[in-house]
Amino acid sequence: MFVQLNCVIIDADAANRQELTTFLARLGVHVVSGYPTIEPLAALLTRNDAPQLVIVNLDPNAPESLKKLGHLPRQHGAISFFVMSQVLDAALLMDAMHLGVKEFIPLPMSEEKLTAALDRISQSHGTGKKARIIHVVPTIGGCGSTTVACNVAASLARVGRTALLDLDLVQGGVASYFDVRPRYTIADVMDSAEKLDQQLLDNALTLHKTSGVAILARPELPEDTQRVNAPGLARLLGVLGRVFDYVVLDSMMSIDPVYATAISASEINLMVMQLNVPSAKNAERFVGVLRRMGVESSKIRIVVNRYVKKGCDIEPDEVERALGLKISWMVPNDFKNAIAAINFGEPVVIRAPRSEISASLHDLAGSLNGKTGSARAH
Ligand SMILES: Nc1ncnc2c1ncn2[C@@H]1O[C@H](COP(=O)(O)OP(=O)(O)O)[C@@H](O)[C@H]1O
Ligand SMILES: [Mg+2]
Repeated sequence: MFVQLNCVIIDADAANRQELTTFLARLGVHVVSGYPTIEPLAALLTRNDAPQLVIVNLDPNAPESLKKLGHLPRQHGAISFFVMSQVLDAALLMDAMHLGVKEFIPLPMSEEKLTAALDRISQSHGTGKKARIIHVVPTIGGCGSTTVACNVAASLARVGRTALLDLDLVQGGVASYFDVRPRYTIADVMDSAEKLDQQLLDNALTLHKTSGVAILARPELPEDTQRVNAPGLARLLGVLGRVFDYVVLDSMMSIDPVYATAISASEINLMVMQLNVPSAKNAERFVGVLRRMGVESSKIRIVVNRYVKKGCDIEPDEVERALGLKISWMVPNDFKNAIAAINFGEPVVIRAPRSEISASLHDLAGSLNGKTGSARAH
């Protein structure tokens, strides 16, 4: 199975080739080679390891380049051809279409248009995104976001292939909550020069046998967190999104580039809070910035953890009024089962499945799987 589209670039300008390679890497497309001219292409496309995508910059002489491309697109129907040019001429466009070119990308390139074109062909090459990415954000230390992320992941793993990434890069506890000892961490899959293929992923992810969750842990050494960067995470999420049904991120309340990448890549930004003033204030601030970043309300979920019917500092409807959002779930307080699960190294939904907290976390996962609507429950 392809987890990444392989691509060949033809562009007379080496700097252009490099720039496009970097851009494509961020989108999870692997550039296998680049050439200044079209000539080497014919031989390359008949090889067993032929790419699925060829991008040709037709400039400086577009009609001439198109002529050279000739019958290649029709001969290799399984390969997608994109051409680019500064010349936006109807005749040239028609010629390109007649040759079997899939997309004509006007230069200067619109990143949005290229991304959309790539999405279209990814689906047809079986490398389209299918995962729901769920970004779990704590609003205050100890509110239980790691507990929520781990248990949601363990529950979702019963219905689909699930990966869990630890984005709490310095303090994160995902590996220890599952009692696994990873050999590789998220810092090891950030190198954009290295092809992120199935084998590398299989090595990097640690499978938790009882639950089936594939875990990508935080780096062991705090200094290795510096290797984690936004383009690397975008590429990683692109690839994981094609392989898994669910990707859960145990994250932080931050809009630094790495976290902004997680926010925009996610179908759901799930904020975990407690019914107290500092947590509610942070939730309000973070909902504010998500809105300013253009995240729609439908992509934000508020989950109250450690809920007790009597003795909360603030009432749920006060929080809802302040946030302008409904609380979508309440997980009951159960210190005994929650801490025992952590000490034992197994999510509570597996260790104590019949407890009230497990039933709540399991149903919370059910409300996030994309198959049912969200309902408030406690
Ligand atoms: N629903 C709950 N009821 C009682 N204790 C909980 C609950 N959820 C989490 N905890 C406890 O709160 C502490 C912090 O949880 P953790 O998931 O690590 O939070 P965070 O990742 O937000 O810092 C842990 O001791 C955990 O056992
Ligand atoms: Mg945590």
